[in-house]
Amino acid sequence: MIRFSKIYLLLVITCLGLNTKTTTAQIHVIPQPLHLTTQKGDFVLNRKAVIGVDKESAAIGKYLQGYLAQYYKLQLALKVYAQIPPSTGIRLISSNLKGADGAYALSVTAGKITVSGKGAGIFYGVQSLIQLLPQVSIKPLQIPVCAISDEPRFQWRGLSLDVCRHFFTVDEVKKYIDVMAHYKLNVLHWHLTDDEGWRIQIDKYPKLTEMGAKIAYYAKEGKFRKLDNLVDGGNDGFYTKAEIRDVLKYAQDRFVTILPEIEMPGHSEAAIFAYPELGCKDSTGAKHRVRMLDPSEYTFKFMEDVLTEVIALFPNQYVHIGGDEAEMVDWLKSPTAVALMRKEGLKNEKEVQSYFIKRIEKFLISKNKKLVGWDEILQGGLAESATVMSWRGEEGGIEAARMHHHVIMTPLPYMYFDAPQANEQLEPIGWNPPVTWQMVYNYEPQSSQLTPAEAAYILGAQGNIWTEKIPNAPHLEYMVFPRALAVAELAWSIKENKNIDRFEYKMKQQYPYFKLWNLNARLPDIVGVDHVFTNAERFKQTLQYPLSGAQVRYSLNGKMPDSTARPVAFPVNIDVPLKDSIQLKTFTTWNLNAQHIFQSAIIKHVKIKSREVYTAELKPGLGYKIFKAKEINYAKLEAVPPVSMMVITTGTPMIMPVTDGDITCVKFSGMIKIDAEGDYELTSGFEVSPTLYLDNEPVIRGEKNRYVEPQKAVLHLKKGFYEFSGYYTATEANSKQTLFSLKDAGGKLLDPAVYLFLL
Ligand code: ACM
Repeated sequence: MIRFSKIYLLLVITCLGLNTKTTTAQIHVIPQPLHLTTQKGDFVLNRKAVIGVDKESAAIGKYLQGYLAQYYKLQLALKVYAQIPPSTGIRLISSNLKGADGAYALSVTAGKITVSGKGAGIFYGVQSLIQLLPQVSIKPLQIPVCAISDEPRFQWRGLSLDVCRHFFTVDEVKKYIDVMAHYKLNVLHWHLTDDEGWRIQIDKYPKLTEMGAKIAYYAKEGKFRKLDNLVDGGNDGFYTKAEIRDVLKYAQDRFVTILPEIEMPGHSEAAIFAYPELGCKDSTGAKHRVRMLDPSEYTFKFMEDVLTEVIALFPNQYVHIGGDEAEMVDWLKSPTAVALMRKEGLKNEKEVQSYFIKRIEKFLISKNKKLVGWDEILQGGLAESATVMSWRGEEGGIEAARMHHHVIMTPLPYMYFDAPQANEQLEPIGWNPPVTWQMVYNYEPQSSQLTPAEAAYILGAQGNIWTEKIPNAPHLEYMVFPRALAVAELAWSIKENKNIDRFEYKMKQQYPYFKLWNLNARLPDIVGVDHVFTNAERFKQTLQYPLSGAQVRYSLNGKMPDSTARPVAFPVNIDVPLKDSIQLKTFTTWNLNAQHIFQSAIIKHVKIKSREVYTAELKPGLGYKIFKAKEINYAKLEAVPPVSMMVITTGTPMIMPVTDGDITCVKFSGMIKIDAEGDYELTSGFEVSPTLYLDNEPVIRGEKNRYVEPQKAVLHLKKGFYEFSGYYTATEANSKQTLFSLKDAGGKLLDPAVYLFLL
């Protein structure tokens, strides 16, 4: 009987597998739509389908037609209808939907696909449709039945591109825009001028590009500035006005607005190199480098002339004028600046900067443009109508929003993609500590420090990339993607629709699309390369990979394998004796070995003893001691009294928020009670990175690369009591994260109220 039903079940599953799908499809659209429902079944897209468009949506229909032809070799006819859309095929219907700019509805049934919205809305509906297409070009193309109604949370969903430190060609910029558009990112912040290069044609000042865009040439001549901050020594290039118009049109067709940035008064070395009259005469920045504009009438006239030509090109209502990292002390030695201070009653160099920015603001307003600047423009007094881009953390943005100025949040570290995205030692050179995609995803642009009215001044968020350490476009793509997808979701989707596990699943589903587009996004990590403390006699682990066709070379001897090592396919089963410790090192390739990543983990053997009995009365909870410090040194902490102590008795052990500037070190101690002998897994919370001890043995170490590599303890524990203690550094970022969690052998999360007690 039992046997029969098993066979029957198998038969049913097989039959269903051959015919229709039994479950609704997992939709992996990024960013997460506002409302999404799925049903069984598919729309089958073949050559017979027609794309029906009205006049307003015709260009978007053509875009979709082109996409299907390019990536799926599917040539569909495009028909413009006058009044009534066709009843089959793909229909784009221009209509005024309720909701924010960009709102759309997408419906897929077995009989037809309908996208409705207005302008950008239709385009975004088409992008969602593109993400419903199969990831590989198989025939027939099945699109899962679903209904989406969607609109963006923020109107500013940005990504920057620094073309000064490394110059990117028009085609490379267009590809960047293409990918932005796929994920509904809508502002490209084009960083066009900086110390290392002036990259935009200005007719009135031809030397800006004749000299300022030719770093490599002048460097060779020995005439130029020291450019050892550039990994490739700098490359030449600039965009002609025709090229800029071409890029603008391309972006406009993809509903991407381009924000031009012309840097002032700092970061102006290339301009000064071409026109030395602009430079601050007594620059003290460095002997061979003059980066600061002198606040002279010549400079103001020059910048107004430049901006006049920029404004004539760019339709965007905003112009970014930089304003960051100006070496204002140079002005204290500049006769021009000193005379200006006297004349205008400016008390210090910050007020000179404020004067400078305000004059430029006035000029922009006279041309019907709005000024955007980095948060340093708050110093010395913010220009009346300025929009602030908050990059040195969130403080500038918060201050500006409180003053009722518009703000774009692009704070360090979360939005800085020049940081490595995993272990610094194993990633290409980058700046700052690592920034994982998880850190990006968890970022919330509307700080809880703002009232709802103030928070309304936050226009959105933006990921930034600086290219000093980026020598080519594939490397740019490696640094920006997939982190930019996290920006796309946090800037588009409402908070309630964010779900990091679902996002991770969806993100991994994008890689076949990346392959179609030839986008060199950083590969996902192997599942199973974790730092592990264990009391097991053998190390048993299965390494899994989310992308099919990937291969891994691995070693357990401490040497990182390279491309000459023997590759194996996933999954990989490792089962080896464990005496003291093992170093697991992996070299993973995918996409015909065009891409690779390294990972490394230490598996360490520990001995853990329990107390079989504990006589004192058991009180649930964990005891915390909170210390304020200027530096992180846990050994020294006991010398000073804690500022407070507390006991958390219920719920998941959380960590405390920090609101002042000091470092807050938290020590905690308690007891873990194990009722049944078995295997357990203790994991530390992401972004918390505590060090944890069981029976005074370290079982999680939170020091190096602490935010980027999973840490866990896999322990066989006997029935009994285990002393449990540890410490961590509390920050704003980790204040709402879970400190640790304990799972049983079946992977079930245990309730701390049942196992955690005060010592
Ligand atoms: C910046 O990163 N200097 C704006």
